[in-house]
Amino acid sequence: MIPITKPFMDRKDYEAVLAPLQSGWLVQGPEVARFEETVARFCKVQHAVATTSCTTALHLALLAAGIGKGDVVLVPSFTYIATANAVEHAGARPVFIDIDPETFNISVEKMEAALAEWKTESLPSPKAIIPVHLFGLCADMPSIIELSERHSLTVIEDAACALGSTIQGRLAGSFGLAGCLSFHPRKIVTTGEGGMIVTRDEYLAKSLRILRDHGAETSDHARHHARGGELPAFNHLGYNYRMTDIQGALGTSQMAKIQKIIDMRKNLVRAYNRILVDIPWLKIPFCPDGYTHTYQSYVCSLHLEGAKAGKIGKVRRGLIEHLSSAGISSRPGTHAVHLLGYYRRKYSLRSQDYPNSRMAHYSTVALPLYPGMTNGEQLRVAEAISSFTP
Ligand SMILES: Cc1ncc(COP(=O)(O)O)c(C=O)c1O
Repeated sequence: MIPITKPFMDRKDYEAVLAPLQSGWLVQGPEVARFEETVARFCKVQHAVATTSCTTALHLALLAAGIGKGDVVLVPSFTYIATANAVEHAGARPVFIDIDPETFNISVEKMEAALAEWKTESLPSPKAIIPVHLFGLCADMPSIIELSERHSLTVIEDAACALGSTIQGRLAGSFGLAGCLSFHPRKIVTTGEGGMIVTRDEYLAKSLRILRDHGAETSDHARHHARGGELPAFNHLGYNYRMTDIQGALGTSQMAKIQKIIDMRKNLVRAYNRILVDIPWLKIPFCPDGYTHTYQSYVCSLHLEGAKAGKIGKVRRGLIEHLSSAGISSRPGTHAVHLLGYYRRKYSLRSQDYPNSRMAHYSTVALPLYPGMTNGEQLRVAEAISSFTP
């Protein structure tokens, strides 16, 4: 079976995880600190705060930015459910915005229109926006930052899929107040589970460090090395969102090869693009000028002239089954969150409310992509797709 993804691990990674096991310091200690410094340097920001996942990173970033009960947060309607869930967990309300069908990212025009028509009698004005850099392509951050300044919106980037992606050389996660990263095994580099918030804001970073550690004003590691052994002050309601040092050590080791991993993914994408571009009903991923795409997922979409989303969804299911019977894993790109039971019911959303997201929900397909994938495997994927009749 050709898998959808495979984490890229080598001997240095295996050795790295042994160090904390041998030292005995297992949770949020020197290895996590080293990983944070490495990611901050890579993203060209001053601060990075590790967490247990990108979902908890988003949750903490919202809380530390003062977003909570009754606040409205703009979220794209086509994203992994975790983006919206983090808003719900913060006690705020996600309001969905449709996407641009070319990039699969939040549509700035739709956001402009929603803000222009905002009915303040039914909902307070939005306080924040979470642009998502879906599948490894940055959302249109220059326009989003400009719009957020006009409307006083806090920008928290969901950069779960986009570590290393850029616009005009500027890195994903470094545009807004904070950027949230994921180190799940389907991401560019992995620590198993794991997340991180990157920011230039020193005050925000300090709040994040306190909130992720039960509200403790001083970390265990700092206390351990101080005289006296006093317990820390607890002035805030915090969480246990601490990363382990085993993950931290693996993260630093993975970061040592991030550029190599990105380059390998880009080479594979160039090969895929060459062999898939002539299939008339398949649209290959788009990357605007000035952007670099890290292709956390290689997501194509099915284009069947005149067909409705439901019909395309049935054809896509057939394609995924056809690939599976040829020994190839593939998956839907991600979901339109407004179609998912919890959000549909809670906010009485209709499936036609966000048509581009709905279409992407039914038409997208992620193909296998991982460093180490061979040309032969890519050809097998292309042949299997070519032999499918939509
Ligand atoms: C866009 C997006 N946001 C958030 C997440 C959640 O990341 P994590 O699994 O680290 O919580 C994911 C995970 O796939 C994602 O794709």
